[in-house]
Formats: sequence, structure tokens, C-alpha cells
Amino acid sequence: MFSCSFETSEHAINTMAHITFDTKNIENFVADHEFSEMQPLITMADQQLRNRTGAGAEYSDWVTLPTDYDKKEFSRIQEAAKKIQQESKILVVIGIGGSYLGAKMAVDFLNPMFNNELADEQRQGVKIYFAGNSTSASYLNDLVRVIGDQDFSVNIISKSGTTTEPSIAFRVFKQLLEKKYGADNAKKRIYATTDAKHGALHDEAEIEGYETFTIPDGVGGRFSVLTAVGLLPIAASGANIQDLMTGAKDAQEEYSESDITKNEAYKYAAARRILYDKGYTTELLINWEPSMQYLSEWWKQLMGESEGKNQKGIYPSSANFSTDLHSLGQYIQEGRRDLFETVVKLDEPVSNLDLPHEAGNNDGLQYLEGITIDEVNTKASQGVTLAHIDGGVPNLAVHLPAQDAYSLGYLVYFFEMAVGASGYTFGINPFNQPGVEAYKTAMFALLGKPGYEEATKKFSARLTK
Ligand code: PA5
Repeated sequence: MFSCSFETSEHAINTMAHITFDTKNIENFVADHEFSEMQPLITMADQQLRNRTGAGAEYSDWVTLPTDYDKKEFSRIQEAAKKIQQESKILVVIGIGGSYLGAKMAVDFLNPMFNNELADEQRQGVKIYFAGNSTSASYLNDLVRVIGDQDFSVNIISKSGTTTEPSIAFRVFKQLLEKKYGADNAKKRIYATTDAKHGALHDEAEIEGYETFTIPDGVGGRFSVLTAVGLLPIAASGANIQDLMTGAKDAQEEYSESDITKNEAYKYAAARRILYDKGYTTELLINWEPSMQYLSEWWKQLMGESEGKNQKGIYPSSANFSTDLHSLGQYIQEGRRDLFETVVKLDEPVSNLDLPHEAGNNDGLQYLEGITIDEVNTKASQGVTLAHIDGGVPNLAVHLPAQDAYSLGYLVYFFEMAVGASGYTFGINPFNQPGVEAYKTAMFALLGKPGYEEATKKFSARLTK
């Protein structure tokens, strides 16, 4: 009746299928020759990316990260994850944006739903709670209550070390640790992931003697899930970070050519760009599994922060199906025709369930007896795709063979390569985020941060008008 697997064996890895990308459902919208016409732009983008001649090249070390990462630090991450699991029931992971979304995506995707609610013996690693990703006082208070008297550790993640949201949350949980374990023992439960040389967090970690992990200089926040930023929380959750890196390494090998007939990451970049040029300026990333909701959140940052510059770029949005068919479905089917969808569909669910048998047909479900609930999910996704195509929504598809670390590593690299190339096709720097600073300036000004006096005058005057 019920089957479930979150385990990945060596053998399974060796025979693991890679992800595939499918454009058959844009045939009504895009002709074959449009792909070949896009090739020169993609070739140019590929050269800028790989030869490091494009804007922001100093932040493109993620291209070779799956083969060229710090193996010693990787072992230290695995050791730290074990220590956290031995000493604590909970790891509070503090960070925002690129210092949060990748870990959240992977922890959700690679563990059972409701993992934090499972009994200890049913969970592989510690419970993971995220903090420092909002300015909500209620959220922090509620998390402090959830921790209660349970043993916990903290992983503070910030490249700059000065981001307001995580800095505030860190103070709260650091003081909670100190109250519970005393100042010296609290320090042994704090893991800092930050810049190797600079920043407030780096300096504090050095003074206090926290165990530290490095965010490499050449890897920006939204590309950092395969560094300690993502790897420590993912490993602490009990997921297999070696498989994650192997998947990314195999993807690095597969997506090494500029030819879009051989490189599906670039084919995806080309398809998006062709659709954009035809007026499809919003992309919805679609999933059919609640555990993939944060895949979309991670992807939205990756795409939006990389491409959204100089009044250009595809607006990245998302929908969780079938849930959102009952809210956004009407708009997608019949609203403004500037949307296209990219469906990330699992070929095999991590677990399946037969529809329970019931005598009679009071609920009208007798026609479904004998098929599994995942078959319903698959038929629903096929039907929705057909309806949306008929409604004028081009539909791209990424097939994910399994809900495991190997496939996730593969997928991460697929999207990263696609956006790296895509950014260069737009003629922008895909690796900076100047727009993120605008809100920080206004917020610091209103909070009266030293150094922002001029802005304080300007913004305060606007508030009182
Ligand atoms: O992608 C980015 O660079 C941002 O989203 C950052 O990750 C985010 O602002 C957090 O910054 P930091 O890690 O410096 O605290």
C-alpha cells in the first residue's frame, strides 16, 4: 500500500539517470529554426562564461565548483554535521537570500515532509529550523518557544557578515545559547559560514573561536548552495552531500559544450530567450510536490537576481500544483498571455500510495480504484499541461528522475549554467545585484544607521509628508 525511499546506494548512483529537458510542448509557439538562430548568441554567452571575459567573471567560480571544491573543508563539514547530530536535536540555520534559500530547498527536498515533527528515531539527522530571513519579531519568539529546553546548535551564514536580518537573529539565538550552556560552551555550538578574510562575522568568529567555514570569494550568494553555505545544514539534516556533489559534477561534464543540440542547459536558456523575445516575459516554475516549493523559491532568486537588470529579464514566478490550480489556475488559463511555464516533474515519487478501497461509490472515486495516488498526480500534470498549451501558455519541462541528492545536484547545476548563459545573452552582468542595495539604504536611513545621515534626512522627510 505504501512505499517510501530516501536512501541512495552506491549502486543506485552509478546507474542514476540524469535530468532531461523537453521542448516538445512549445512546438506550437517556437519553430526549430528559431533555436538554430539563437545559437550564435548562446555561443557568445558560453565563451564569456567559460573564458571569464564577461561582466562579473570574478564571481563565476561556481562553473567549476563541482570538480574544484575544497575537499578538506568538505570533510570538516561532514565532521561538524556529525558533531551537531551528536550534541543537538535542533540546528538553527540563520541567513537570508543566497545564504538561506539553497539550504532550505535541499533540506525540504531531501528529507521527508514534516521531518521536524517525526520522532527522533525516525529522523536521519537533526531538526532544521531557519531564522534571520525576515524582520518578524513574532517568528523569532515562536522559534524560541519551539526550541524550549531541547539541545540546539546554530549555523550563522552571512558572506558580508553585516546583513541586518541574520545579525539580529544571531544575537537572539547566541544569547539563548549562552543562557543555556554558559558563554564558553555556547561558542562550541556556533558554526559560522562567512568570508575567508573580511567582515563583521569573520572578525567575531575569530575573536570568539567559533568553528568557521568559507564562502569562496568567486561564488556569489545565489550560486553558493554547493559550498558550506548549503552543505553544512544539508549534511546536518542527514542528507547525503557527497551524492549532491557527484550529481553536480556529472552535470558539469554533461553541460560542457556550447552547442544547444548537445547541451540541454543551454537549450533551456535558448528556449527562454526565444519566448521572451516573443513577449512571454514571465516564467512560472511549476512543481507537483509540496516538498519542491522551495526549489522554486531558490530558483526565483537565482533567475531574478541574475537577469533582472537594465529593465530587462524574464520575471521569475512560481506555482505549486495542484494546490495553486485552485487559486492561480484561472489566470494561467485565461489571463494576460505573457506567461510560460517550466514544469519540474519527478519521474518517480519518493513514496507512493494506493487509493484505499471502499465499498460503494458515495464519494464518486470508484473509477480511480486500482491506480496509485502518484498516477493521479501524473495524469493531472499531463492534463494541466495540455489545457495550458490550448490556453496559449508555452510549456517547457524538466524531468527529474528521482527525489534524491544526486538529481538535486544535477538540477542545481542545470539551472546555474542556464542563467549564467542567459544573463550574457541579455548583455547584463548576471553576477551582481545592485538593486538589492536600494532597499537596504532606505531601511538603514530610517533606522538611523551611522553613515546614512543624508539618506535619513531624505527618506524621513518623505515619510512625514
Ligand atoms: O545573492 C545574494 O548575494 C544575496 O541574496 C545575499 O545572499 C543576501 O543578501 C545575504 O547576504 P549575506 O550573505 O552577505 O548576509
